Amino acid sequence: MTGPCRRAPSQLPHSAARTSLGRVSSRQVVAAGYGGPEQLEVREHDPGEPGGGQVLVEVRAIGVNAWDVKSYSGSAGTDPDKLPILLGGECAGVVLDGDLPAGDEVIVHPVSGAYADRVVAKVGSCVPKPFGMPFEEAAGLMLTGTAAAHLVAATGVARGETVLLNGAAGGVGLFAAQLARHRGARVLGTALPDDHAVLRELGVEPFDFREDVAAWVRERAPDGVDAVLDAVGLPTVLDLSLDVVRSRDRVATLVPSPAATERGIAQLGFGEGADPGTELRAAARHDLVAAVEQGWLRVFVADRFPLARAADAHRAMGGGHGAGKIVLVP
Ligand SMILES: NC(=O)c1ccc[n+]([C@@H]2O[C@H](COP(=O)([O-])OP(=O)(O)OC[C@H]3O[C@@H](n4cnc5c(N)ncnc54)[C@H](OP(=O)(O)O)[C@@H]3O)[C@@H](O)[C@H]2O)c1
Repeated sequence: MTGPCRRAPSQLPHSAARTSLGRVSSRQVVAAGYGGPEQLEVREHDPGEPGGGQVLVEVRAIGVNAWDVKSYSGSAGTDPDKLPILLGGECAGVVLDGDLPAGDEVIVHPVSGAYADRVVAKVGSCVPKPFGMPFEEAAGLMLTGTAAAHLVAATGVARGETVLLNGAAGGVGLFAAQLARHRGARVLGTALPDDHAVLRELGVEPFDFREDVAAWVRERAPDGVDAVLDAVGLPTVLDLSLDVVRSRDRVATLVPSPAATERGIAQLGFGEGADPGTELRAAARHDLVAAVEQGWLRVFVADRFPLARAADAHRAMGGGHGAGKIVLVP
C-alpha cells in the first residue's frame, strides 16, 4: 500500500525503533467480567511483533462503538471462557513495523483489541488515512461508516426518493444521512432536539423521536416513504417504520433481533439470519476514504476521552451523547 500520508523517517515516533519493540510496554483496556463499565480494566500488554502480512500500529485514536459495550454487557452471552474480552474494532494510527512502510498513517478496520496504545493488525485491514484528516475523525470513520453504506445499499436508496432514518444523529445515523443525501434522497431523520441543528446542516429534516413520529412522517410523505433505514431496532420503532413505508421489502435494520425477525424485516450485520455484507463493507472502506477526500463526507466527533477513561466513554454511549462518534485517545 502506498498513500499520500507516508511520513519522513525523521518524523517517526521514538518508539518506532524495531530493537525497542520487545521492551515497549503498551496499555490495553479489556472487559474483565460481564456487566457495566465498571468491568473495564487497564492492563499492561505486549502487542507482540507483526508476522507476515501484518503491521504493528501506534494507535493515535480509537472509535467507540455500541458493540464494544454490548460485548460484555451480558446481552450477547456470559461465557466465562471468553474473558477477558478484548475491545475495539477500529482505530487510526501510524505504522511502526511490519509489511507496510513505517510512518504510513492508516485507518485500521476490522481489527480486534484496538483499545490499546499499540495493536497488531492485518495489512488488509489498513487503509491510508486521508491526508490532513485528524486521527480522531479517522478513527470513527470505518465501523459505522461501512455499516451505514450497507444500510443505504440494502434499502436501495435512490435519487428523488423520501426515506426515514431512525437514529439519524448517532454514529451510524450521521453517515447514513450523508450517504443517502449524496444519492439524492430526501431524508426524514429522528433524533433528540439538541442534535437537530447538525442534521439540518446535512440537509436532513429532523424530528424528536419522543413525539408522534408516524404522524409527522405521514404529514411529509402522505403516500408513505420509499424506504426505512433503521439504526435503533426497538420493536416500537420497527412497528412505526412498517406503518409509514410503502413496501416492507425496503425496510432494513442494523440491529438484528427476534423482533425484527418476527416482522420480516431485513437484518444487516451479525446475528442469525442477518446479512453480514462482508464484501460490500470491505469495498465501502475505500469509498468512504474517497468521499472524505472529495469533501462531501464528514465525521462528527461527539466527545473524546483518554484511553484510561474508557469506562466513562461507555457510560456516555448509554444515551444523549450528542451527535456523532465518541473516540478514545491513548
Ligand atoms: N449490524 C451492524 O453491522 C452494526 C454496525 C454498527 C452499529 N450497529 C448497531 O446500530 C445501533 C446504532 O449504533 P450507533 O453507533 O449509531 O449508536 P449511537 O451512536 O448510540 O446512536 C444511536 C442513536 O439513536 C438514538 N435513539 C435512541 N433511541 C431512539 C429512538 N427511539 N428513535 C430514534 N433514535 C433513537 C440515540 O439518541 P440519544 O443517544 O441521543 O438518546 C442515538 O443518537 C446500535 O444498536 C449498534 O449496535 C450495528
